[in-house]
Amino acid sequence: MNKPSSSLVLASLVALSLLALQASAWAAPPSPASPTTNDLVFQAGQVVSLPAPDTKGGKPLMAALAARLSTREYRPDPLTLQTLSDLLWAANGINRPAEGKTTAATARNWQNQQIFVATARGLFHFDPKRHALVPVSPKDLRAQTGRQPFVAVVPVNLIYVADPPPTADNIADPVRQATYEGIHAGIVSQNVALFVASAGLATVVRANFDASLLEPLLGLLPGQRVVLTQSVGYAK
Ligand SMILES: Cc1cc2nc3c(=O)[nH]c(=O)nc-3n(C[C@H](O)[C@H](O)[C@H](O)COP(=O)(O)O)c2cc1C
Repeated sequence: MNKPSSSLVLASLVALSLLALQASAWAAPPSPASPTTNDLVFQAGQVVSLPAPDTKGGKPLMAALAARLSTREYRPDPLTLQTLSDLLWAANGINRPAEGKTTAATARNWQNQQIFVATARGLFHFDPKRHALVPVSPKDLRAQTGRQPFVAVVPVNLIYVADPPPTADNIADPVRQATYEGIHAGIVSQNVALFVASAGLATVVRANFDASLLEPLLGLLPGQRVVLTQSVGYAK
C-alpha cells in the first residue's frame, strides 16, 4: 500500500483541526487568552467598557428557536467579556444608535427595564447607552439571586429590575403597571434565551428568588423592583 505523502497528512490534520474548531467555537469555554468575567475588576466609580458586540455571529434564528431550553446544571467556567458583551447587547442593547432605541421593546419606549449583572467579581449595572458595566457592589451576590443551588455556581446571573414609568406617563393602575413590568422582563429574557441558544450557551429564567433579600443588596431607588432573574453559563 502507498504511504500517504507528509503534505497530505498535514493537510488532513489541518482540515480536521479546523472542523473541530468550527464545531466547538461557540460552546467552548474561554481560551486562557480571552478576558473573562473572572477578570472583571470592581472599582467604585470606575465604569467597565465592554468590547463592541458581535452582531453578526451565532446560529440563525430558526435554529436558535429549535435549540431553546432551560438548563439547571452548570459548569463554573466564566464567560468571556466578548460573550458578556454580545449577551447584554442581545438582551437590551442599543440597536438603532441614531434613535437610541433598543433590542427589547418597552411600552411607549419608556426604556424602564434595567439589567443588573451578578458575577464572581461583583455586581454591576448594564448601561446600554455606554455599552458598559457600572459597578454597584464588590460582593459576589450570585447565591442571593435565587433559591436554587446552581445560581451560586453559574458565571452570570442577570437581575431584571423595573423602574416606575415616567411620572408624566403614570398609568396609575398597579395591575397594568405590573403587567407591563412582566412583559418587559419577558421580552428581555427571551432575547437572552435566543442569544444563548444561538451561541451554544445555557440559561434558565427564574422567578424563584427572595425579593426581600435581593432588593436591598442592589441599592434600588424608590419604586424600583426586581421582576425576574436569569442564569447564563455553560451546561454541565
Ligand atoms: C416567568 C417564569 C419563571 C420561571 N421561574 C423559574 C425558576 O425560578 N426556576 C427554574 O428552574 N425555572 C424557572 N422557569 C423555567 C420553567 O420552569 C421552564 O421554562 C419550563 O419548565 C419549560 O421548560 P423549557 O424552558 O426547557 O421549555 C421559569 C419560567 C418562566 C417563564
